[in-house]
Amino acid sequence: MRGGACEWNPADATPARPWRLVLLGAPGVGKGTQAELLADHLGAVHLSTGDLFRAAKQADSARSAAMEEALQYMRRGELVPDDIVIRLVEERRACLRLPCGFLLDGYPRTVAQAEALDRLLEREGLVLDGVLDYELPLDEVVRRLSGRRTCARCQAVFHVDTRPPRREGVCDHCGGPLFQREDDRPEAVRVRMEVYQRSTAPLIDYYRQRKLLIPVPAHGTPQEVFARSLELLNGRHPGAAVTAATPISAA
Ligand code: AP5
Repeated sequence: MRGGACEWNPADATPARPWRLVLLGAPGVGKGTQAELLADHLGAVHLSTGDLFRAAKQADSARSAAMEEALQYMRRGELVPDDIVIRLVEERRACLRLPCGFLLDGYPRTVAQAEALDRLLEREGLVLDGVLDYELPLDEVVRRLSGRRTCARCQAVFHVDTRPPRREGVCDHCGGPLFQREDDRPEAVRVRMEVYQRSTAPLIDYYRQRKLLIPVPAHGTPQEVFARSLELLNGRHPGAAVTAATPISAA
């Protein structure tokens, strides 16, 4: 399940150690894929701002003017204005308080959002454990993006070469149709890469200065990158990641 809304069942096991992490990296580097694997392993809730916007796009209910505006930015590959995104995350602050911890995927994406997150966490009495920064050469990132296919029904993510569905065009999990995201078209990808360099890359320094940055080489298979992520988390807090609790469902 891709992380949009956050649900946590208190009957499930609480992890021995809740992880509160941010996942950083260029569009298409594999943050969502890693967030899914990490959320299952660490028992943390996966919150993706991109998935929240995509869910709003699919919702049948009437959308607010602010959300309509946000979706226009998204289609072009530009960032949604900070005030809209910050409000969206503030509205979900209960997710951040859950005892299972959280993985923020796609947020923050600008220094203003990072500062807003700092303020929110301070108000809630929470601290970040680390910021996993996934690193990959640009040509490989573009290859990952251009081959991505997403399930229209359950949002599961595939890749035509590296993670093909069993039946072409059909989701392995729910049988829904697979489609190419509007913002994975070449012209939108170009805009997203420029926006990443301009607005999001400065967060690398922001978190390095706060001693939270954990650079993760993102080459190799998803499982290899996942193993590397755990190893790096474990190096930061020995024993914590590998003794994580049984998975907790995060919708
Ligand atoms: P969002 O959905 O967050 O998009 P993104 O950051 O551009 O990231 P992606 O979802 O494109 O890629 P990913 O890194 O998760 O890669 P994935 O795992 O899918 O945001 C979309 C838009 O929403 C933004 O452009 C913006 O408009 C708006 N928005 C969202 N948050 C915002 C914010 N905070 N502020 C303002 N605006 C915001 O992998 C990609 C492909 O590669 C898949 O096909 C996958 O199967 C494959 N793959 C993954 N790992 C590997 C591997 N190791 N080897 C081979 N293939 C792999």
